Amino acid sequence: MGYMRKTAVITGASSGIGAATARRLAAEGFDVVVAARRRDRLDDLVKEIEAADPAGRRGFARAVTLDVTSEESVAALAAGLRECHVLVNNAGGAHGLESVAEAVTEDWRVMYDTNVLGLMRMTRALLPKLVAGAGHVVNVTSLAGHVPYVGGGGYNAAKHAAVAVNEVLRLELVDRPVRITEVAPGMVKTEEFSLVRFRGDAEAAERPYEGVEAPLVAEDVADCIAWAVTRPPHVNIDRIDVQPRAQAAPYRIHRTS
Ligand SMILES: NC(=O)c1ccc[n+]([C@@H]2O[C@H](COP(=O)([O-])OP(=O)(O)OC[C@H]3O[C@@H](n4cnc5c(N)ncnc54)[C@H](OP(=O)(O)O)[C@@H]3O)[C@@H](O)[C@H]2O)c1
Repeated sequence: MGYMRKTAVITGASSGIGAATARRLAAEGFDVVVAARRRDRLDDLVKEIEAADPAGRRGFARAVTLDVTSEESVAALAAGLRECHVLVNNAGGAHGLESVAEAVTEDWRVMYDTNVLGLMRMTRALLPKLVAGAGHVVNVTSLAGHVPYVGGGGYNAAKHAAVAVNEVLRLELVDRPVRITEVAPGMVKTEEFSLVRFRGDAEAAERPYEGVEAPLVAEDVADCIAWAVTRPPHVNIDRIDVQPRAQAAPYRIHRTS
């Protein structure tokens, strides 16, 4: 039998950490399935990955339109997939920075539906293929899943829940050949995370990064994910906490201005 390529599914691949992870895993030799709601962005990413570099190397990628809040959409992705060796549950994000006293119920609902239920739906749907392929689930949580901060209520709650599901999965799957890794980043400067949080207000979205010399970038998180999934099969990297050097906690950030 010839060399078998491995398939990696990345949710939320239309931007930020997901897109960087897809590029990186394709470069590591995975066939990548890039999934999110905005199909045009996924199609561009596929073209980029499949374009040969000057040395003639090219990646293999496929786009799938996916809404992780829809059971049907998740089922359709699973049905169209022959095998899966790596699942990166990355789709998600924060909506709003209101105090609990001012909480917007719909924001909390969306955050739970994407960051927690989305992770559950994707994992449940792909688990049979992951078990068959001695696979690996990587859950992109957040520092916000471990450390609460003022205004973080809904996001903290959702990411703490995602952390809990990640831990439960590792307990439940100990007798099966599936690895479970959590990657918990601190401040990452991606194109859209903060824009989404502040409902498209570009000025408000810039504020968290103001005076921070070098926040993490999406490629730094992709690097952590690539490292975790390329360890030998008996090595389970449980959790990677990663912050920029200028951050010690969500509320302890060094700013030069
Ligand atoms: N940036 C940070 O500081 C930071 C820090 C820690 C953790 N994180 C976490 O890292 C992950 C990626 O964040 P990012 O910074 O790369 O943010 P981003 O640039 O806003 O990307 C979020 C991705 O999630 C996708 N998404 C959102 N809702 C979805 C849904 N219902 N179904 C499918 N895809 C959906 C978006 O694509 P579509 O809109 O096209 O669907 C997009 O591709 C998130 O889970 C976030 O919570 C981010």
